[in-house]
Amino acid sequence: MVQTAQTAGRAGASLDILPALAKTAPLMADPKVNEQMEKIVSLCKRRGFIFQSSEIYGGINGFWDYGPLGAELKRNVKDFWWRTMVHTRDDVAGLEATIIMHPQIWKASGHVDTFVDPMSTCHGCKRLIRTDQAWEMIETSGWGAPLKELYQSHAPADELAKWAETKGKRLVPRLALILNPRAVAANWERRLQESSNAERPTLRQFFVAMGREEYEPGYSIPPCPHCGSELTEPRPFNLMFRTCVGPAADDDNVAFLRPETAQAIFVQFKNVLETSRQKVPFGIAQAGKAFRNEVTPRNFTFRSREFEQMELEYFIRPDEAIEAITGQVTKPAAGHPGEPRPCWGWQTWHQYWVEERIRFYESIGLPRATLEEYWQTPEELAHYARATVDLLFKFPFGTQELEGIAARSDFDLSQHQRFSGKTMGVFDEELKLAWAKLDEAKKAELSKRYFEARLKYLVKMGEAKEKAEKLATEDAAGLAKGNYIPHVIEPSAGVDRLILALICNAYTEDQAPDEKGKLETRVVMKFHPRIAPIKVAVFPLLKNRPELVKKAHEVRDLLRPHMTVFYDDAGAIGRRYRRQDEAGTPFGVTVDFDTLGEKRDLLNTVTLRDRDTMQQTRVKIGDLLSLLLEKIR
Ligand code: GAP
Repeated sequence: MVQTAQTAGRAGASLDILPALAKTAPLMADPKVNEQMEKIVSLCKRRGFIFQSSEIYGGINGFWDYGPLGAELKRNVKDFWWRTMVHTRDDVAGLEATIIMHPQIWKASGHVDTFVDPMSTCHGCKRLIRTDQAWEMIETSGWGAPLKELYQSHAPADELAKWAETKGKRLVPRLALILNPRAVAANWERRLQESSNAERPTLRQFFVAMGREEYEPGYSIPPCPHCGSELTEPRPFNLMFRTCVGPAADDDNVAFLRPETAQAIFVQFKNVLETSRQKVPFGIAQAGKAFRNEVTPRNFTFRSREFEQMELEYFIRPDEAIEAITGQVTKPAAGHPGEPRPCWGWQTWHQYWVEERIRFYESIGLPRATLEEYWQTPEELAHYARATVDLLFKFPFGTQELEGIAARSDFDLSQHQRFSGKTMGVFDEELKLAWAKLDEAKKAELSKRYFEARLKYLVKMGEAKEKAEKLATEDAAGLAKGNYIPHVIEPSAGVDRLILALICNAYTEDQAPDEKGKLETRVVMKFHPRIAPIKVAVFPLLKNRPELVKKAHEVRDLLRPHMTVFYDDAGAIGRRYRRQDEAGTPFGVTVDFDTLGEKRDLLNTVTLRDRDTMQQTRVKIGDLLSLLLEKIR
């Protein structure tokens, strides 16, 4: 496995030092989606939201920088997450841990052994492709989508060959159908005629089959999404970036850049518990960088190699302890379950956090209708998860994951206890007292359930049966004395994906009159004021009138200690408004001659322009600060 990762890393290096956009653009979905994403990517660069990393050297694939507006937007989102998850709650404490940690952590968490993606190399263009993503890339690509349409409409061989000789040739030069259009199309038609409708090969089989000389029913590797050549058999590729700690670059000093922020929370669990005066149920939150050597970073910042996460690990009692204390374990109904209660089992806590997270997104301008809840099927669940809900956002390139909310059982703390030899359990006085009052039958029932759950985990992790039974018996005895390893609910969000979702959601085009009253297309970023990079722009009507400029400076200085203010006196006022619309600034304040008292009753008033409606209202300077603060908080 290590060998595979190293080989892949070398092969990938020369390919990946390529302009990131050039590599992602051709594979975005249909032309309309391409057009929408191109507009968004172009605005991001033009207005300073997002730049390619190392751009002057040609870029580096999977790495992005945030420009002046992007940096503000990102900061606002992270600050608001922190405010929502930590500051406004009594039951969550914060943490800021290092990126490089003891390598054993990644052994315990399973990342060293299982954090792998299947990777293939293209025989033609030599690109590295994530084999499991190739289908999706093909079916939404500029060549896969039209071919899919031809296939689904049962197009005759002639039409297929015609497409191959014209458009197809330009789009996907090395696809078998393009290299040998007449023969492949005829062969294909014959095969279709031979099979009944019920056994008609699927679209994917069609793509595979036309790339093979012999039709092999079991063969399922797709053609290269970029050029159509054959891909190699998939091989596992570990996504963790490796480095060495200290001057000797040998195997003993290998360490990893963290692929998630979560593990630091687990390994510092005891320290936080002891210093924060929290007790279960409570959470630890952390936001920060994570690194994954993605095989195919794509869709702009959506899948990057360096990104940020905002994660909460919320520790709860095991259901057996809850039942012992409260006599019941409530199961969730639909919707938000309301204020936390001691009788909530893990399923209700899970539901609670799904709903809390949706409310968070709503409060920063992503309506519920833009999100989708996806409950992973048992086959899709990670080995540690009891249930996972993905919150998906409708990006222009498809509905994709924004955040995962996983019920991780007691897996993580248990693993770190086994690997470090340090106890990760807690003592719960309430449980000890409650247990003593239970009748013998209840004690036996709860002990048995707890024993079985612990045994299942230990056996799954490879402990020998005898040892696992001994340990699980000790765990069950511990429960009766008030000891257990907490379970965890984990809402895990990606900052960069959220920024991209907010940008896609905010991007709007409408019609607005220019200086001469002629309608023109206006690009406006409709960010929620709470997260908008700049809250208010201040404009003197004319820059060559010192009395207007002086007053505008006064207004700017009044607001600046409380919010981000942009002062702009360059160009016609209409153009200044347009610039701020593109930056997503929700409010514009103009100082004009009435402000100076040209109309006596308007002395010391300004116009306040709303970005979305373009309506202007007259506001007293004295009221401006409180009015704006109310809207941006
Ligand atoms: N601790 C759990 C965990 O890391 P994950 O689903 O692998 O779970 C959580 O990641 C979130 O991190 C995702 O929902 C996504 O928003 C973000 N994320 C993951 N990989 C990413 C990547 N390569 N680029 C950008 N964001 C990513």
